[in-house]
Amino acid sequence: MKNILESPFVKEMIEVTSNMYRLGWDERNGGNVSYLLDEDELKEYLNLNNVIRNIPLMGLNEVDFDITPLLNKYFIVTGTGKYFKNVAKAPEVNLGIVRIKKEHIELLWGFEDGGRTTSEFPAHMLCHIARLSVNPKNRVIIHSHPTNTLAMNYVHELSDKDFSHTLWQMCTECIVVFPEGVGVLPWMLCGTVEIGMETAKKMHDFRLVIWAMHGVYASGETMDETFGLIETVEKAAQIYMLISDKKQINTITDNNLIEIAEFFKVNYRKEFLN
Ligand code: 13P
Ligand code: ZN
Repeated sequence: MKNILESPFVKEMIEVTSNMYRLGWDERNGGNVSYLLDEDELKEYLNLNNVIRNIPLMGLNEVDFDITPLLNKYFIVTGTGKYFKNVAKAPEVNLGIVRIKKEHIELLWGFEDGGRTTSEFPAHMLCHIARLSVNPKNRVIIHSHPTNTLAMNYVHELSDKDFSHTLWQMCTECIVVFPEGVGVLPWMLCGTVEIGMETAKKMHDFRLVIWAMHGVYASGETMDETFGLIETVEKAAQIYMLISDKKQINTITDNNLIEIAEFFKVNYRKEFLN
């Protein structure tokens, strides 16, 4: 067996959570990450017949949802209440590798202090199901609390169209990075299946969904793509927060947005232009 601490997926989890902490996006236990793993790759590091213990599938709410599309799939995931600043120091305590079963999940590695998966696990699983249905290559879901994106939620209208349009206008290349725009949910109680369902609905159309006054859910084929998406939205929100109370004399026009989207041949959401 190879050393799991040397595996690319553990290293990527450490890197992404450390970067999120370093950027100030994920204070205390804020944020969570789940990463769909390939069974053949995982076999090189773990005996998959060795189940350490079972963890209840649901988060805080015991509402049922259909997990069938993810049955027997493997995820590495952050633990509930765990601080991203500590993941690099003790990955085997703060991360876990689980296999999805119908009534529970099987812990195969990690959560060595008796911990369990993030309280947002239902939302993560529902988002994986939604994204896999539109892109079978999707593997990553990240929830985070990026500072400027949250700040912008308090001072900007929260419709998908208006929020996306403003973000596109904040940096020239935003429309190339997220041509579909972003989805925005109103404030909702977190940790529930209900918010997971609403997020997953939006995830059919958008790779990034904002939870108003809370954070973002982002998805992607790779850790870099998913992290880069949050980074780009957060940068745009930062520009907005730097300029929104100042006299603005220049802007990126809709014609500019069309020009760049067409030049880079991205399929942008045309109804989000004015
Ligand atoms: P967990 O500690 O359960 O992952 O929750 C963090 C969070 O950001 C909840 O929205
Ligand atoms: Zn959160």
